[in-house]
Amino acid sequence: MHKIIVANYKMNGSKKLYRSIQNKLNKLELKDTELILCPPFLYVPFFKLSNSNIHLGVQDVSNTIDRKSTGQIKPEMLKEFGVEYSIVGHSERRILGETDELVNQKIKVLLSSGMTPILCVGEQSKDENLSIVIKQVKEAIKGIKSHFKLIIAYEPVWAIGTGELPSVQHVNEVARSLKKILNKLDVEYKILYGGSISNENFQDMAKADIDGFLVGGISLEVDKFIKIVKGIDNE
Ligand code: PGA
Repeated sequence: MHKIIVANYKMNGSKKLYRSIQNKLNKLELKDTELILCPPFLYVPFFKLSNSNIHLGVQDVSNTIDRKSTGQIKPEMLKEFGVEYSIVGHSERRILGETDELVNQKIKVLLSSGMTPILCVGEQSKDENLSIVIKQVKEAIKGIKSHFKLIIAYEPVWAIGTGELPSVQHVNEVARSLKKILNKLDVEYKILYGGSISNENFQDMAKADIDGFLVGGISLEVDKFIKIVKGIDNE
């Protein structure tokens, strides 16, 4: 089955680092895995990807195409630089005030320009109920009537950057619940897992009923990242 691995570089990296990352990733030979690299906006034009399995994404997008939006960046601008995807609703942005309503607006802006959203959802703490995740997804896609594409990254907030992971069973339960909702809609979707994926744990988590990973920290360590990508591609 076709797999996706998203690299979320967050507010990290430098020209030097991204040069070495793309030199190595461009040489990768992949059978059935698609990589989506999401650098900070400034570095987007710096990416020259010559590998047809690798695509460009960003970490956020404007919630409007209104010209009076100081500091925002809209899909039409991103598309000029070959960007096809945008992360939306990452927990590190939700902390800064990104509401479900803003997430919904951003998804609509992306879809109306033919870009694909990578929607991040996840509960804050281990004892929280799955209904939080379901609500985040329902609110995010509210009012979308026509056929659309969506990548969902299930990322329990307590697992991001902590080294702690949920069980495969738990991830399967979330995936099953999301599929129940999505299968009723006219949507082409993939479900990824994100949060503390490493060289030590990716093989176990790959047993879950998911389509790939969203990787933060390890994406900056390109040799380790490549091991994960190859491991998934050879499954
Ligand atoms: P992590 O980050 O892989 O470093 O836990 C994941 C994320 O923030 O999406």
